[in-house]
Amino acid sequence: MTVSENRNIAIVGVGSLMSKSLAIWLASLGWNIALVSRSEKSLSAIADEVRHAQKGKSGKVVYRSADAGEPTILKAALDWCVQELGGKLDVLCYNAARVALSNIMDVTCDDLEQDFKVSAVGTLTSGQWFASGNANVDRVSDGEWPLLLVTGGLLDKQPEEYVASLSCAKAASQAVSRLFAKSLPQKANILVGMPLISGRVVSPGEEGYSQRFDADEIISAVFKPFFEDREKRSRGQEGWIVERVH
Ligand SMILES: NC(=O)c1ccc[n+]([C@@H]2O[C@H](COP(=O)([O-])OP(=O)(O)OC[C@H]3O[C@@H](n4cnc5c(N)ncnc54)[C@H](OP(=O)(O)O)[C@@H]3O)[C@@H](O)[C@H]2O)c1
Repeated sequence: MTVSENRNIAIVGVGSLMSKSLAIWLASLGWNIALVSRSEKSLSAIADEVRHAQKGKSGKVVYRSADAGEPTILKAALDWCVQELGGKLDVLCYNAARVALSNIMDVTCDDLEQDFKVSAVGTLTSGQWFASGNANVDRVSDGEWPLLLVTGGLLDKQPEEYVASLSCAKAASQAVSRLFAKSLPQKANILVGMPLISGRVVSPGEEGYSQRFDADEIISAVFKPFFEDREKRSRGQEGWIVERVH
C-alpha cells in the first residue's frame, strides 16, 4: 500500500527517537511538517535533519517551541502550525511525554501533576483542538480521513515501579485517546490511532539497543499502517484498527 504525498502533519513532542523518524519518513514523501516541543535548539537541529531528508521534495518544515502541558500555549502553537503550513492538518501526532525514572515511594505530587499535564491534558487539548475545525475533512468522501495519532506503550495496563509517575499519567492519557476513538469518528470525521510500543526505544550504538525497538523500524512497522489505512476507508470507519502494539 502507498501513502499520499504532499499532506500536512503537526507532531507535538519532538526528540531524537520516534518523532524524528516519523518526520524524516514523511519528509521523503513531500509532506508539510510542523514540529512542536520545548527546546528550540533541539527543534532547530531536528528540522535541519528533516529538511535534508526531503531529497528534492518541496514540503515545508517549520518548528515552534511550546510546552504541550499548557493548554493555551499548545493551542496557540497548533494554530500557528496551520497558518504556517497553509492549510488544515491531515494528521496530528501527539507524542509528548516526560520519559523519566521515578519510584512510587518517592515520586512527588508535583512530578505526578507535571506528567499528567504533558500526557493527559496535552492529549485532551490536542484532540479537542483538532476536532474544532482544524482537521482536513475535504477528502473524507473519497475515503481519506484525517487522523489523530497518539503514541503510547503498555504502562497503562502494566504499570512499572521504576516509571511510576509516567505509568499513572499514561493510564490517563490512553483513556483520553480511547474515549476520543469512540467519539471523534462520528462527531468530527476524525480517526484515532494508538501506536503502542511494548519496549524501550534506544538509539543505535547506545546500551540496550535492539533492532526491534529501533525508531525507524517502529515507524515502518506500527506508524505506517495507520497512514496507509486512513486513506483506504471506502466503508468509513468500519474495520479501522485503533490500537496497534509493537
Ligand atoms: N522511548 C521509549 O522507550 C518509549 C516506549 C514506549 C512508549 N513511548 C512513548 O513515545 C512517546 C515519546 O516518543 P520517544 O520516546 O520516541 O521520544 P521522541 O520522539 O524522541 O521525543 C519526545 C519529545 O517530547 C518532548 N516533550 C516532553 N515534554 C514536553 C512538553 N511538556 N511539551 C512539549 N514537548 C515535550 C521532548 O522534547 P523537549 O524536551 O524539547 O520538549 C522529547 O524529546 C511518548 O508518548 C512515550 O510515552 C516511548
